[in-house]
Amino acid sequence: MSVIRPQPSEHPIQYNASAVFAAGTVSPAAVAGLAGRLDAARAESLADLDRWRSGGAKPGESLDPAFIDLPDRLLAAYGTVRPESELFAILQTARRIRDAVDRVFVLGIGGSYMGTRALFEACCHPCHNDLPRGERGGRPRLSFEGFNMDNDSAQGLLDVVAPAGRPRGDDLLDRWAMLIVSKSGGTLETAAATRLFLATLLNAVGGDVARLAPLVVPITGKTGRLAELAKAIGCPDGFDIPDGVGGRFSVFTAVGLLPASIVGIDVVRLLEGAAAMNRRFREAPVAENPVLQYVAVSHLAEVEAGATIRVLSSWSNRLEAVGLWYDQLLSESLGKDGKGATPLTAVTTRDLHSRGQQHQEGRRDKLITNLVVGEPRRDPISLPKLGSYAANQDQLDDLAGKTWPEMLAAAVAGTNEAYAQAKRPTADILLPRVDEHVVGQLLQMLMLATVVEGRLVGTNPYGQPGVEDYKKLMMKRLRPA
Ligand code: PA5
Repeated sequence: MSVIRPQPSEHPIQYNASAVFAAGTVSPAAVAGLAGRLDAARAESLADLDRWRSGGAKPGESLDPAFIDLPDRLLAAYGTVRPESELFAILQTARRIRDAVDRVFVLGIGGSYMGTRALFEACCHPCHNDLPRGERGGRPRLSFEGFNMDNDSAQGLLDVVAPAGRPRGDDLLDRWAMLIVSKSGGTLETAAATRLFLATLLNAVGGDVARLAPLVVPITGKTGRLAELAKAIGCPDGFDIPDGVGGRFSVFTAVGLLPASIVGIDVVRLLEGAAAMNRRFREAPVAENPVLQYVAVSHLAEVEAGATIRVLSSWSNRLEAVGLWYDQLLSESLGKDGKGATPLTAVTTRDLHSRGQQHQEGRRDKLITNLVVGEPRRDPISLPKLGSYAANQDQLDDLAGKTWPEMLAAAVAGTNEAYAQAKRPTADILLPRVDEHVVGQLLQMLMLATVVEGRLVGTNPYGQPGVEDYKKLMMKRLRPA
């Protein structure tokens, strides 16, 4: 973590659907009745790993289950053959980049940047990029590009690193580097940004390709256009996105771990959290298994009560990007063949003032899953008294001394009570706090739940064939025959 070190936490996250049962949306009996199918879906998801390892994918089948035991494998290698391990190489490169520059760009789209953004927002200081380097613990700022072709936002970032087209000086605080992330190596948005930022960075290092090369780190498949480009530049470091790990499941490869480590996130704790969730997923009986219970309730709410919209409602600003990452994960994995629930991220209480009305009284097509955080990372702030310049005009004197966590807890309880009165189903994912170990558990839980649900409903959770259509039609316009 940057700036604030977390206490080590072995506390498991919990899933609680009692309010969904109380609202009558799903019955405990129906969940219990699904146990056999859930067990089978878990077994099939784990068997996918063996099938993939033995090259057993059917012709034309997308099969990317290698994310499942990836955290365990990375940790095991780090604990045994450390200097030869992938994690060691990631940490070494992270240290080199951290010491060399004050800003890092991640260029990527979809699964090639959303997981990193989720880790950054959840685990770093909320104002990381605004802090002076010393207060960032010497860790660089992190910015994202290559996820769109928005002229003005690209120009805005160029204003920061090369004002008015002129590179800045060679002070450490002016230096920057770029991580180019693309599994296919050919995604236009990322490739276009790569050209733009390569040209700018080359200019910044006086046109010297030997100085450019160490500032460019490709994270891509073993072969492809980006791998070739990196070879031509002579990049000394580069990382594979391993076979068998799809883009939106790649957060625990170098895709997420390298930038996370550069900005000071404890990636070993992240992986330990993910591995802890793996153990629970494999070993816990269905009734105590957070992954399987989450799948059961979400699935039954959809098929038995028409809750086709799944609102992931975060009670922490820090977890909004986790929600956006999950939006992609669920949409691309299960939104196929005319099926699949629609995910929607909300940040509460913020969105109670925008979506709350609809969630309370609108169409009954939603299951709300709260992400509730047990304790803040920082000392609680208390509501201050007004000064002698005023006399309780805001009518809050009676609340003076109440803390932010106390007020938020009242909002959580009040909102859930209001939804319960209107028989709106709300489940909770309870996070003891937001630190690397907990975030590791959460991301792994949601990835596992997505593939298990796919196997449960007969949708292949891997691959995203539909996304190819826009790419083909876009390129046809750019390159008319
Ligand atoms: O989940 C996926 O595989 C996709 O969302 C990809 O991450 C996204 O399309 C980017 O592809 P690439 O990494 O090949 O540039």
